[in-house]
Amino acid sequence: RTAASVDAELKSLCAQVEACRKCPLGSQRLHPAFGVGSSSADVLFIGEGPGFEEDRQGEPFVGKAGQLLDKILASIGLKRQTVYIANVVKCRPMIDPTDPEKRGNDRPPSPDELEACRTYLEAQIRLVRPRFIVALGGVAAKTLLRTEDGIMRLRGRWHEFDPGGGLAPIPLLPTFHPAALLRNEDWKRDVWTDMKNLKKAMENES
Ligand code: SF4
Ligand code: URA
Repeated sequence: RTAASVDAELKSLCAQVEACRKCPLGSQRLHPAFGVGSSSADVLFIGEGPGFEEDRQGEPFVGKAGQLLDKILASIGLKRQTVYIANVVKCRPMIDPTDPEKRGNDRPPSPDELEACRTYLEAQIRLVRPRFIVALGGVAAKTLLRTEDGIMRLRGRWHEFDPGGGLAPIPLLPTFHPAALLRNEDWKRDVWTDMKNLKKAMENES
């Protein structure tokens, strides 16, 4: 495994996602948001799915929630170029797919869509092999940990993600989704606690 071979495999995976029609979202979206950042990142941040802006730009977390995520990263000295950022589904889920321009048209991915897209995220994780995963919000946390527990229960503690392929489990920290912070300021404290926790873990093991 070299950095170049990992990059090449990520590129080919991205091409597969671009051609993917495994679920209905594939023919509704403008652009998939495959992932962004460093293929040798220590930390992988995983959100829910692309929204309006992400669908246009083909990159995760570039809208309002993304700007807040950039600030959260900066608070512990990280940048979107040095971590890796992806979503549990690569194509934008819409409430009304016939009207992509409509405001408030985003929705969470369905269980079928999550299942259909899962292989891409798992392949991405096995390629990047991050030391830590941060699940942003309940949908990402539940999907990755295969649990029905909600974000209130899961956040603030380390869990383990099993990447398969004979690789060791990866410590996974669930925290609130940045979009949730835009609605409820009270959760900012908790996210700050979680980011300090992440930073400490990164320093301990490097
Ligand atoms: Fe394929 Fe995932 Fe897009 Fe569905 S959301 S079409 S599974 S890439
Ligand atoms: N919300 C997400 O979960 N992911 C994005 O990429 C953008 C907003």
